[in-house]
Amino acid sequence: TQPLRVGLAGLGTVGAGVARLLRDNADLIAPRAGRPIAVGAVSARNRGRDRGVDLSAAAWEDDPVALAGRGDLDVVVEAMGGSDGPALATVQAALSAGRHVVTANKALLAWHGAALAAAAEAAGVALRFEAAVAGGVPIVKGLSEGLAANRIARVYGVLNGTCNYILTEMARSGRDYAPVLAEAQAKGYAEADPSFDVGGIDAAHKLALLASLAFGVKPDFGSVSVEGIDAVSLADIAHADALGYRVKLLGVARRDGDAVERAVRPCLVRAGSAIGQLDGVTNAVVVEGDFVGRCVFEGPGAGAGPTASAIVADLIDIARGAAGPAFGVPAASLAPPVSGALRPA
Ligand code: NDP
Ligand code: HSE
Repeated sequence: TQPLRVGLAGLGTVGAGVARLLRDNADLIAPRAGRPIAVGAVSARNRGRDRGVDLSAAAWEDDPVALAGRGDLDVVVEAMGGSDGPALATVQAALSAGRHVVTANKALLAWHGAALAAAAEAAGVALRFEAAVAGGVPIVKGLSEGLAANRIARVYGVLNGTCNYILTEMARSGRDYAPVLAEAQAKGYAEADPSFDVGGIDAAHKLALLASLAFGVKPDFGSVSVEGIDAVSLADIAHADALGYRVKLLGVARRDGDAVERAVRPCLVRAGSAIGQLDGVTNAVVVEGDFVGRCVFEGPGAGAGPTASAIVADLIDIARGAAGPAFGVPAASLAPPVSGALRPA
């Protein structure tokens, strides 16, 4: 059987994690995928850096766009990051060369998701992004497959592992914000620019994608209302605790008539509630569907292992020939969202 040949563009926390997972679980992935999945080529900035995994069998490309154009690949995994620049050029090049694309890059999709989904459809290839929302939690598949028969009223939750890690560590240890953020960075949870995490922008990117999957609208990041945790102090956390609450950064998207309201902001959540008890890097997404009722998806929202788990699940779908449209419906039917200010639920 011919393997599915993968090109890895980016070999940092996520890209190297994918290579390790494909190596360590090769024996169970091949029968589940129907064929082996092999890394055929890789690209990163620094060729000499130790990635903690042997990549000597894969071809090296200095330029990720050149990797995307290689005729010996079936899929390009984009794990570089950035809403434009090399990430956008690589994904566009891969799609126009007829390669499937799997990306962990929510910033890219929150800005260009509808256009890239249309390009994928035009090329007859898949664009998949399970890892872009809530790390290892299978919420993209949850919405586009498991809950596909439901009219969704609301989707909300804790969407940024770095912020949840910071908020829970500050509450637990009484330590200030800066050293806890440094710890989250050392664990590989944070974005290259951590102001995207603490400023709520990363959660808003993910919320834009969730709203698109849930309500059939374009991601349209520019119309999401965003507030981060950068102004939350130890005193705020202590006052909330004394009243029986936790501070959580929530992303909430809700249909209200024709409008889709989307906002990210720090909220007070009852300490004993499911969301109030989320610790560390854990994310949770709650979906309310008209036939299923309320579903909660919970798990590790960042880090090498969980993110690789989501990317390789997408690769397995592609190997099986089971990948549908990126946002669950044809890109041409994604409407621009009519925004409204989020009112209390
Ligand atoms: P890292 O910074 O750890 O890795 C980025 C990788 O991209 C590096 O290997 C870097 O090369 C490479 N790279 C950057 N620019 C270029 C370029 N111009 N040409 C070739 N290679 C390039 O980031 P992460 O792995 O943490 O994140 C990658 C993506 O995954 C981002 O979109 C992020 O938002 C997303 N993501 C991250 C998660 C996490 O937990 N970390 C979870 C879910 C999604 P070099 O190593 O040589 O510098
Ligand atoms: N920086 C992101 C987070 C990575 O902390 O949630 C996962 O998307």
